[in-house]
Amino acid sequence: MAKQANAWIMQKKKKWSLMVLALFSLSTAMVFLMRSAFDSCNANSSSRFEEGRDRAAEAVRVVRSNAGPNPLQFMKSKLVLLVSHELSLSGGPLLLMELAFLLRGVGAEVVWITSQKPPESDEVIYSLENKMLDRGVQVLSAKGQKAIDIALKADLVVLNTAVAGKWLDAVLKDNVPRVLPKVLWWIHEMRGHYFKVEYVKHLPFVAGAMIDSHTTAEYWKNRTRERLGIKMPKTYVVHLGNSKELMEIAEDSVSRRVLREHVRESLGVRNEDLLFAIINSVSRGKGQDLFLRAFHESVQIIKEKKFQVPSLHAVIVGSDMDKQTKFETELRNFVIEKRLQDCVHFVNKTLTVAPYLASIDVLVQNSQARGECFGRITIEAMAFQLPVLGTAAGGTMEIVVNGTTGLLHPVGKEGVASLTNNIVKLATHVERRLTMGKKGYERVKERFLEPHMVQRIALVLREVLQKAKSHANS
Ligand SMILES: *[C@@H]1O[C@H](CO)[C@@H](O)[C@H](O)[C@H]1NC(C)=O
Ligand SMILES: *[C@@H]1O[C@H](CO)[C@@H](O)[C@H](O)[C@H]1NC(C)=O
Ligand SMILES: *[C@@H]1O[C@H](CO)[C@@H](O)[C@H](O)[C@H]1NC(C)=O
Ligand SMILES: *[C@@H]1O[C@H](CO)[C@@H](O)[C@H](O)[C@H]1NC(C)=O
Repeated sequence: MAKQANAWIMQKKKKWSLMVLALFSLSTAMVFLMRSAFDSCNANSSSRFEEGRDRAAEAVRVVRSNAGPNPLQFMKSKLVLLVSHELSLSGGPLLLMELAFLLRGVGAEVVWITSQKPPESDEVIYSLENKMLDRGVQVLSAKGQKAIDIALKADLVVLNTAVAGKWLDAVLKDNVPRVLPKVLWWIHEMRGHYFKVEYVKHLPFVAGAMIDSHTTAEYWKNRTRERLGIKMPKTYVVHLGNSKELMEIAEDSVSRRVLREHVRESLGVRNEDLLFAIINSVSRGKGQDLFLRAFHESVQIIKEKKFQVPSLHAVIVGSDMDKQTKFETELRNFVIEKRLQDCVHFVNKTLTVAPYLASIDVLVQNSQARGECFGRITIEAMAFQLPVLGTAAGGTMEIVVNGTTGLLHPVGKEGVASLTNNIVKLATHVERRLTMGKKGYERVKERFLEPHMVQRIALVLREVLQKAKSHANS
């Protein structure tokens, strides 16, 4: 009896601590503004917000896979050098930090180098570096003999993003050819300006490239060949996975309910209302303007056809009036002009998305042009059993199963009518909406969890190590 009661109390305690954590994050998130990001797949110092939130918290931990031995176990005692183009809360660096901690978790020796640092001291950099030091990651200056020595001695060197390629010549100089055979190049971007010889000329000679989606990998293959006349090395596609922390909140119905009530109350949205959200930094590339147009048209159609559905609301999470003033002013003017003030809500950029995912009914992923490289928010939303209305572009197409876990629409103005249709469809078909959410969750459990990502990364690292070794022996 006592045992049972104890277990029950522990259970409750865990639930409460989860909620407190999430709520705390919600309030601190308001002041935790991220640097702006305008384009998808932009790993420049403007951050990839959609891949960035939540990663700092996630990264701070060792992964213990419950399912058997850790697939990265063979990295024990290996020396790994991680070269990041910058250190910030944006997607690329945080993902590399996750890798650093995963490797530390199996006893690898990990050294971190940030190739571009602002001359003045920076609070974010300071705290991230401390986080790494706490976890036993060594942080080194990008320049100097020590960096060269480690690069020569390392079993594996990971370059993060295309821009990090500049570090090779600048620091290693004559030693570049000796290091290239053990370089794994992790690429998260597909903006045109990354296809520069000065960044990627060594790409053909590294052991491998690792890219977040097939579409992005295909794009790199085409562009390097056609624009630069160089050939990609062996390229591995590694889809990302949801952290255990996110999954815990997503799978805890009590936390979800509390967060849902809290956020809805703060927005003035009733429990029975239907809430659609875009969670991305506000910018034209993310398509909030086109989404609002579709949302407005949906509301009109529902009115005209007298469909009996709850009130529709939209929330734009990722507002940043300091950075995207012109575009965001445009959005806000549209809302006023169409008299949507009561049902369209803006929320500032935040590192913490779980509370919003817990409180919405549908996620809209409306990234334009080539879409997202991957789009981590998509798998995070699916973990919360949300259907996704996404553009048929980029990584979204590899995540969302059209008609099953969500509905896809074309990018651009041509896609607005289709998105409108899909909004009305999900608003009027409750059963369909809920089923899609469940299917999305199943898909995440099948292939978009952290252990899946670790498994995929482990396969790549194993091959790269072997290649490096056989090269060293020959
Ligand atoms: C990053 O952006 C800055 C300005 O925002 C620009 O000067 C710089 O060239 C960009 N770097 C890359 C690698 O795109
Ligand atoms: C790459 O090029 C091929 C043929 O030129 C084309 O069919 C394909 O759509 C291109 N892929 C991307 C991602 O641009
Ligand atoms: C949102 O950000 C703006 C500045 O960009 C700030 O003035 C405002 O207070 C923030 N709102 C909240 C709720 O934190
Ligand atoms: C998605 O499915 C719908 C039908 O359910 C179809 O009309 C549409 O063309 C599909 N879109 C893509 C990109 O496959």
